[in-house]
Amino acid sequence: MNTHHTLRVAITGGTSGLGLALVEQLAASGARVAFVARDAQRVASVARRLAGTHGLVGDVSRKADTYPLALQITAALDGLDVLINNASHLGPTPLALLADTECEDFEAALATNLLGPFRLTKALLGALGASARDGRPALVINITSDAALSAYPGWGAYGASKAALSHLSRIWHEELREHRVRVIAVDPGDMDTPLHALAVPDADPATLKRPAQAAREIISLIEREAA
Ligand SMILES: NC(=O)c1ccc[n+]([C@@H]2O[C@H](COP(=O)([O-])OP(=O)(O)OC[C@H]3O[C@@H](n4cnc5c(N)ncnc54)[C@H](OP(=O)(O)O)[C@@H]3O)[C@@H](O)[C@H]2O)c1
Repeated sequence: MNTHHTLRVAITGGTSGLGLALVEQLAASGARVAFVARDAQRVASVARRLAGTHGLVGDVSRKADTYPLALQITAALDGLDVLINNASHLGPTPLALLADTECEDFEAALATNLLGPFRLTKALLGALGASARDGRPALVINITSDAALSAYPGWGAYGASKAALSHLSRIWHEELREHRVRVIAVDPGDMDTPLHALAVPDADPATLKRPAQAAREIISLIEREAA
């Protein structure tokens, strides 16, 4: 990464798809990286393969995991410059019309896609503010979706949670401006990942973006913000 800082980056959902591609590319660029996912074996396997990365086992949808994760992130990285809230839940699978969506599936989408990013960001605001005060880039990237904007039938729980995440990002960006902490929502586009295959099993993977390409675009954005 072409900045004069060694960036300290935390990524939720770092063992698959876009999150994994971000962990791989950021680690290769020399950033200090911590990542979170629920499956302990996959976390250990990614951390083993990508020497120097810190794999943390946790569930961002669980309130009780928030502070343990925040403390482990700041301890592992000795602070934090960039938080990427990437872990995601589709709601009901197969996707369902809202009238057929169980309340529990709706709640699960909100817990992972909205409350999780809210809580983890809040728990890490002190570290991000300290980064900004040290003249480092302090940035939160919330991974959203075009389903936040378009009313796709069947994507109600996911789309509502991502729309709320996007708006939360805009409000937080305004509120944190004076502290020089930036909060940005980014739509990575339709990617060939397990999440997409679960949502749209008939999609032709050849028509979808590679997660590595989306990761490159997000890292370019971080570089621009850091410059
Ligand atoms: N794929 C697309 O076409 C597409 C399009 C637009 C937006 N997006 C967004 O892009 C982001 C990445 O999606 P993806 O397709 O790369 O997903 P993915 O391949 O399904 O990967 C999801 C990652 O998140 C982790 N995870 C899921 N729930 C978690 C939780 N509660 N706590 C901690 N970690 C959790 C998973 O590991 P564990 O299961 O072990 O926890 C995995 O590492 C998401 O925000 C998604 O909404 C994707």
